[in-house]
Amino acid sequence: MTYLRNCWYMAAWSDEIEKGGMFARTILDEPVVLFRNNEGEINALLDRCPHRFAPFSKGKVDDGVISCGYHGLSFDGGGQCVHNPHGAVLKNMKVKSYPVIEAYRSIWIWMGDPEAADRDLLQDLGFLETAPDTAFSKGYLHGQANYQLYVDNILDLTHADFLHADTLGSGAWTRARAKVTETDDSVSVNRECPNEIPSPLQRSFRNLKEGERIDSWNNVDWHAPAIMVLHGGNVPVGALRDGSINTMTTLNTHIMTPETERTTHYFFATTRDFMTDDTDFNNGFAETRNRIFSTEDEPMIHAQQERMGDKDLWDLDPLLLRIDEGAVRVRRKLARMIEAENK
Ligand code: FES
Ligand SMILES: [Fe+2]
Repeated sequence: MTYLRNCWYMAAWSDEIEKGGMFARTILDEPVVLFRNNEGEINALLDRCPHRFAPFSKGKVDDGVISCGYHGLSFDGGGQCVHNPHGAVLKNMKVKSYPVIEAYRSIWIWMGDPEAADRDLLQDLGFLETAPDTAFSKGYLHGQANYQLYVDNILDLTHADFLHADTLGSGAWTRARAKVTETDDSVSVNRECPNEIPSPLQRSFRNLKEGERIDSWNNVDWHAPAIMVLHGGNVPVGALRDGSINTMTTLNTHIMTPETERTTHYFFATTRDFMTDDTDFNNGFAETRNRIFSTEDEPMIHAQQERMGDKDLWDLDPLLLRIDEGAVRVRRKLARMIEAENK
């Protein structure tokens, strides 16, 4: 599969890798081993020893040096061999290393030309860092489908009215006409739902009585390759969205990193501006979200992929509806970026 390569992909949540520890994950079909030295600095190497191709992740890490568990060659974080128990260490004894940065409680890897790696190209997700722990939660799903199907899923939230009818849906997303806007490197899908029926979760968060309505809205911003920021909220009908006690908003990320053509690392996080110091609420909210994603979204997207088999979406000539506008624009934009990169 052809992926966009010269961009930052999320490789892991920071707390997936301990100080002095290592962690293996396949990214864009390449086996990668991430490891930290004793100070916590992170490095990433191709998880394949250049001698007889054993995975480094079956070896050990000793203060920033990774040693192959098969015949003992050791490499530093830059991929240079630093110890050879069987003879001399030569300059050309190297393994591929990847640029990595740690920011926003997560680790980002550059899978393209290392010379082109640029910290400034990382999408600003600072809100993940500044949110208090009691108004922040995160998760990871190993998705059994192509990453673009997960992207489509977020860009068309009308699915919540059907797939999540007993939690997130009330019909409001479907009744609202999405407004899709685009810049050179982003696509936004905005839905306004004035004077609408609240979803079951909104009703319970607000303690609303039967028949009471709300104004709600949702905005999804997509950034290449598959980083989405979702900002949603609601107020009592007619109230100002001024961040006062009346306003309930959440700011979320949905980040997909291709593992293979048919599997996806799906990282998600939620922050909110209401009940921000309520740990029990935070945990309950996270549990509900994780249950919805893993028992509703994931099985549906997996089943969708099974039906599609190895075919590309366009090869199957999908019936396009107006709700697909955001997802179609994103697919086209990404395809153009990949094409430009491969020229
Ligand atoms: S395979 Fe790694 S040292 Fe031989
Ligand atoms: Fe969903």
